[in-house]
Amino acid sequence: MYSTDIHEQVNELLLAKKIDVAKKDNLFYTRFLANAYTIYELYMQLYKQHLNAKETFKQVIETIINAYQNRSAILKKKDINKEQNWFLSNEITGMSLYVDRFCGKLIDLNDKLNYFKELGVNLLHLMPIFESPQEESDGGYAVSDFRKVNEHFGTLNDLQIIQNKMNDENMYLMLDIVLNHTSHHHEWANKARQGDKKYQEYFYMFDDRRLPDEFDKSMPDIFPETAPGNFTYVKEINKWVMTVFHNYQWDLNYSNPAVFIEMLDTIFFYSNLGVDILRIDAPAFIWKQLGTTSQNLPEAHTILRLIKHCVQTATPGMALLGEAIVAPKEIMKYFGEGRFTAKECDFAYNATHMALQWDAIATGDTRVMLYAQEEILRKPYGTSWITYTRCHDDIGLGYDDYMIQRVGFSSYEHRKFLKDYFSGEFPGSPAKGALFGVNPKTQDARISGSLASLCGLEKALSENDEYDIELSIQKIIMMQAHSFLIGGVPMIFYGDEVGYTNDYSYLNDAGKSYDNRWMHRPVIDWNKNEKRKDIGTIEGKIFSSTQKLISIRKKLSIIADKKNITWLTPHNIHVAGYMRAWNSERTYCLFNFSNKAAYVTWYTFKEHGMRPKTLFDHWTNQTFNVGLDQEYLIIEPYGFHILEVK
Ligand code: GLC
Ligand code: GLC
Repeated sequence: MYSTDIHEQVNELLLAKKIDVAKKDNLFYTRFLANAYTIYELYMQLYKQHLNAKETFKQVIETIINAYQNRSAILKKKDINKEQNWFLSNEITGMSLYVDRFCGKLIDLNDKLNYFKELGVNLLHLMPIFESPQEESDGGYAVSDFRKVNEHFGTLNDLQIIQNKMNDENMYLMLDIVLNHTSHHHEWANKARQGDKKYQEYFYMFDDRRLPDEFDKSMPDIFPETAPGNFTYVKEINKWVMTVFHNYQWDLNYSNPAVFIEMLDTIFFYSNLGVDILRIDAPAFIWKQLGTTSQNLPEAHTILRLIKHCVQTATPGMALLGEAIVAPKEIMKYFGEGRFTAKECDFAYNATHMALQWDAIATGDTRVMLYAQEEILRKPYGTSWITYTRCHDDIGLGYDDYMIQRVGFSSYEHRKFLKDYFSGEFPGSPAKGALFGVNPKTQDARISGSLASLCGLEKALSENDEYDIELSIQKIIMMQAHSFLIGGVPMIFYGDEVGYTNDYSYLNDAGKSYDNRWMHRPVIDWNKNEKRKDIGTIEGKIFSSTQKLISIRKKLSIIADKKNITWLTPHNIHVAGYMRAWNSERTYCLFNFSNKAAYVTWYTFKEHGMRPKTLFDHWTNQTFNVGLDQEYLIIEPYGFHILEVK
């Protein structure tokens, strides 16, 4: 769409800022004109009822121009050089890590760049590094200054040094923007607490319990054990403030345009640091409305679309990842719908599939996972997943009941089994995890625990059981392989590449002991990681396999996320298989989720319009002759194959 008024307004402001629309800045100018009306439209959808909406819209335009003007020549060049949809590539593999727990300070990452290179990781997600109160930090997700690096990690300058090095090594950087809330020690919160009306309006503040009680009726508890309810009393001003997460995380009020503009400017601050992928923390929560769950509301999507179009205009090289860990249908909406299809978030976490992999490994039955794919496959071309087996958060069993019921299971009993299995309660379960966020009212719970511990390594080690140790290693690798090959950018959680089991040291730290998610956020012991060099050790086996998987990914362009996945007909409930196809190429990936050998007929490979004669397995380097329809490929317990049609 186009409007002369908006065109003229943009022109006027560009001129005032001395933007060279005819020559040097022409590309920016073109992008601006292409997006200006949509930006206006989206902005007005949110804020038109404000008397000064026209005035504040002008500030949005200025914020965009400033962002472009503050962008370095190097980044502007990168913006142009990054191919469209660069992030769909099979050549990107990420790792998510806490700088302090991984190596100490930001500057120490310098010495670790070779480690990432050795493994094949070329995208780093640094867990929050901006200022956050030590004892009330939620792992850095309670930010008290969005622009000051926490001294604990170093300085902004250190970050820049690392970013430059990473840039030289063709590595990508991912950082968070914690959009939904600030720490109660953020300057805005401090001012609000001192009675400053302007800043009180940055938050949701109420004089009594009347509205908070109304809100609480329909808003679920995120941390029911440690932070029940959604409001916290602020005694200095005798008011209640909305705190959906912990009581020290105050929710920002995006119905106030000043909040949006401040945060947009912060987003650009991160773009101009050189962030390649911006992880938008908890976007599902950014709009609140009485009588609703205050999650996934249409206005939350409007805000994200608005952000996307602003970023697209000023700093287009930065992709957006929406961390929406919500119901499968809701996750899909973060890619945009209708005329905004593929114009909202570039990435979302494939949280549905992540949880389903855990479902399948617990039951040994892949059917629930399969029934969910119809939903997951709706992802539009041009967008991608972050695929993962574990991250710093708990595993939520948030997929739909119908996916469970189609198999014939009771969804209540099934989820109960999964919770019992992963917390190790279920007789014979090899897993050692714990329940997180148990809601006494609904009995809902999520799961904590590291990849290795949930796969049985911790228990097998404590029992000194050789067979089970090997089996758990096999499980770990199979879980990773499945998520590395399914399409999207794999995000390895640090420590998992060498099989860290749960770390219980958090129990001795008052700022962490109330939150068992810390059990799977290990402190790295580099002596242990050194053992990766000895292929006979557990660390060596897991590291070298992970390394091999990454290198296979890099070789196979068919693995890039081009909406080219077809799930195979399930001939054996223990085996999940998908085919990746491009032109006449085919690669079949098959995974055995059970602890016994599984048989799959060769007919499986002939169902999709081809009758391949030989299949080359990139994992074992074997060539298989495709047998008769009634003969079998046998897959080892928790084994897998990556079979390219030759
Ligand atoms: C996100 C983070 C989680 C944090 C929450 C509140 O879900 O991943 O760790 O607790 O947001 O910021
Ligand atoms: C919210 C986040 C989710 C996280 C949880 C806390 O629900 O969306 O990512 O798991 O908070 O851990």
